[in-house]
Amino acid sequence: MDTNRLQNLKNQAISSILETKNEQELEELRIEYLGRHGQITQLLKKIPSLSPEQKKDKGNLINEIKKIIEEAIISQKKNFQQKDNQEEWFDITIPGEKPVKGHLHLITQAIEEITDIFKKIGFYRVAYPEVEWDWYAFEGLNIPKNHPARDELETFFIQNLKHPKYGEAVLTPHTSSGQLREIQRLGKLPVRMLNVAKCYRRQVDISHAPMFYQFEGLVIDQGINITHLKGTLDFFVKQYFGPQREARVRPFHFQFTEPSFEVDVSCIVCGGRGCRVCKQGWMELGGAGMVHPTVLKNGGLDPTKYTGFAFGWGVERVLMMKYKIDDIRLLFSGDLRFLEQF
Ligand code: PHE
Repeated sequence: MDTNRLQNLKNQAISSILETKNEQELEELRIEYLGRHGQITQLLKKIPSLSPEQKKDKGNLINEIKKIIEEAIISQKKNFQQKDNQEEWFDITIPGEKPVKGHLHLITQAIEEITDIFKKIGFYRVAYPEVEWDWYAFEGLNIPKNHPARDELETFFIQNLKHPKYGEAVLTPHTSSGQLREIQRLGKLPVRMLNVAKCYRRQVDISHAPMFYQFEGLVIDQGINITHLKGTLDFFVKQYFGPQREARVRPFHFQFTEPSFEVDVSCIVCGGRGCRVCKQGWMELGGAGMVHPTVLKNGGLDPTKYTGFAFGWGVERVLMMKYKIDDIRLLFSGDLRFLEQF
């Protein structure tokens, strides 16, 4: 192990290090020289067995060579890393890719739109329990047990849950169950509620789902009459469906309103002339009427002093009419090809 051989070894190492083309080649060289069985490591191991004189000279030299090789490896590594960085350079002026942004479901959009329309004319929004007592859903609304109207609603009953005063528990079959709750909650007049809520009925076909949304208006005050109801309906229909649309009321029957009406809107497709979709120019929107005196009484109000009107329509129904959607299941499908269109 003479000094010349050591110098050669060092030169050889340095030139090989400089010739490496990537970090992997460099790593292989590091192992060859400085690894556990590397050439320099082997030499270092021999130092203790040298004579004291050699120990000093050669020992120093070998350690120095080791340091030089280490430094060469580090600086070559830096070269590679800088190069890598340069290759990753990118043009910061290129517009970035926008992340995909979702949006509110179209039913939620419709609920917000409907709420905003009614807010403009003084309604405020409320929400009531989806699991409701019979009294609020039926009895208090003048629909006693065994009344045929209760069959039509095809209600879901909750088993083993009964209120001593308010009776059985049901899943709200209509938002009208909010009428008496609101009268009680507010405790004063005027009532101008808009109750938007989930409703449940045993029904499934292309225009009915077992869970759906209704929005219910209730206005009670002194001197409220049918013209207020009709004005409100006209306002909504024009705001929601467009200025050319008309609302009309037809006599109907509900237990909790007297008189009662079915409300129609002039057909979106033909504008009221009559076509294949609407037959006679009108499409059915939903129920409405003047609050029944019994309901007012049940709410603790004097029906000789106060009057009111109410209406309750399906959110999905008005939405499907507006966008001409013919199958309610699309609304609940979660299919993005459909939802992304709104
Ligand atoms: N609750 C009735 C229904 O679900 C609609 C309605 C609401 C009718 C308010 C009159 C007044 O069919």
